[in-house]
Amino acid sequence: MKKDPINVFGDWALNGRDERMAQGHASSVKAMLELATKDLKDFTFLDTGCGNGWVVRKLVNYPECQYAAGVDGSEHMIAKAKSIDESGNYFCEDIRQWEPSMTFDLVHSMEVFYYLEKPDKLIQNVFDFWLNPGGKLIMGIDFYYENTTCHSWQEDCGVNIMHLFPKKTWINFFKKAGFKNVSSHHFGAKENWKGTLVLMGKK
Ligand SMILES: C[S@@+](CC[C@H](N)C(=O)[O-])C[C@H]1O[C@@H](n2cnc3c(N)ncnc32)[C@H](O)[C@@H]1O
Repeated sequence: MKKDPINVFGDWALNGRDERMAQGHASSVKAMLELATKDLKDFTFLDTGCGNGWVVRKLVNYPECQYAAGVDGSEHMIAKAKSIDESGNYFCEDIRQWEPSMTFDLVHSMEVFYYLEKPDKLIQNVFDFWLNPGGKLIMGIDFYYENTTCHSWQEDCGVNIMHLFPKKTWINFFKKAGFKNVSSHHFGAKENWKGTLVLMGKK
């Protein structure tokens, strides 16, 4: 029987697969952060679905980053983040309902949004309630319709919800939420792999 994403990834935190996942995502996240931060000064940062918190710990070393936090629904992922970085800002919350107590200049997310029943609702909430005026959302996903190599992943991972939307659907979610300057990118493309689909928009 398939399980919900928070439980599946909680198991990964317990068996160490979270670290391999972070390594697999590292080169796309590096390119995403370069793109999103190149014109930012003194910014606040949130990683949405932060897993074991590895991206938050990267941001803490950026001189321009004033505050970095991560949120994840898995208590095992957040416990792991805190065990590595006791004083870090990690929140164990379900992002479908979470109302952060502050707003951010940059909201980042890698391989998370397609696990939600209504990703467009979260994108709207990020626009309306999570971002400062002029703030940016950058999202990377490897699971999308045009990337045919990924089509078996839902069966492979045993996750009960994974939306296999085409790129244009994600672009429409950003535009409908009100994001301006919406751009799309493919990072790490190679043979039989379309690369990480990255979307960025500005409030
Ligand atoms: C594929 S993992 C990616 C983790 C991290 N971004 C990384 O690159 O290593 C997806 C993460 O999203 C989290 N997640 C899924 N649904 C969630 C929800 N509704 N609320 C909060 N976190 C959620 C999972 O717990 C998991 O840690």
